[in-house]
Amino acid sequence: MKIIVLGSAAGGGFPQWNCNCRNCAGVRGGTIAATPRTQSSIAVSGDGNDWVLINASPDILAQIRATPALQPARAKRDSGIAAVMLMDAQIDHVTGLLMLREGKPLPLYCTASVWNDLNTSLPLAPVLSHYCGVHWHPLHTIGDGPGMQAVHVPGIDGLRFTPLALSSKAPPYSPHRAQPGIGDNIGLLIEDTGSGKTLFYAPGLGLIEPQVDAAMRRADCVLVDGTFWRADEMIELGFSSKSAADMGHLPQSGEAGMIAVLDSLDAHGNARRRTARRKILIHINNTNPILDDDSAQRALLARHGIEVAFDGMEIVL
Ligand code: MLT
Ligand code: MN
Ligand code: ZN
Repeated sequence: MKIIVLGSAAGGGFPQWNCNCRNCAGVRGGTIAATPRTQSSIAVSGDGNDWVLINASPDILAQIRATPALQPARAKRDSGIAAVMLMDAQIDHVTGLLMLREGKPLPLYCTASVWNDLNTSLPLAPVLSHYCGVHWHPLHTIGDGPGMQAVHVPGIDGLRFTPLALSSKAPPYSPHRAQPGIGDNIGLLIEDTGSGKTLFYAPGLGLIEPQVDAAMRRADCVLVDGTFWRADEMIELGFSSKSAADMGHLPQSGEAGMIAVLDSLDAHGNARRRTARRKILIHINNTNPILDDDSAQRALLARHGIEVAFDGMEIVL
């Protein structure tokens, strides 16, 4: 399986258009060692020809331009993107759909909760029905629990996608923001059915529930929420009154933070995976000190064997 990180930043990107925090001002002015990043999205393929776009970032057009594999030029009008799968209905993950309107009807895989938001509060689906049109393929939960049915995407051979319901929140604009439900946010276990290698992808992860822990332990590569370093990062900087937890993100630092979670994956289980498993942070907010390549926080991640995703990063499993 091949994975291309199209965008590695959280909502707003890096630098964010209106932000003058140390990182944003530093990358603009060239005073820190950091690389600009677009808003988070990945592409996954079994054969390197046809890809599933996972989340449709507002930066999708720039991401496609930067990624020759997504423009294979097999016909007068063509795209390497065979289908789109959504992890949630957040603005930074769905608004790129509007930019794909010149193409064929879009196969769109998402939960009923996300589909509902995209037909009501943020009505991208009805809008797109006047352009390319969208074919919804529901991602189903099993019973009332967090387990979900594995799906095969036509045209994407050799990959099996198993969604996992995450406890988090619907977007701020959603009418059910205050009543979280199963399917508002998902993670994905993607398995190469030939090699048996697996990727766990969850750009928004606030809570490590048992099914998430099990999926991470099973995975050869975990590509997970790297939004904030500190639980109170946005409050501290005076940018927001919301904590990382309020926004559905687990910060890296702290006793039960993401570093501790990723360390714990190595403590038990399969010895082969323990030594070979890649641990990579994605969906990094512009305020996060790990964006500065020379920061102490970045060095700490390196000591824990944790990588930081960048736009254009390629992962082969
Ligand atoms: C989030 O995941 O919390 C978002 O990046 C926020 C946003 O898109 O505005
Ligand atoms: Mn986001
Ligand atoms: Zn900033």
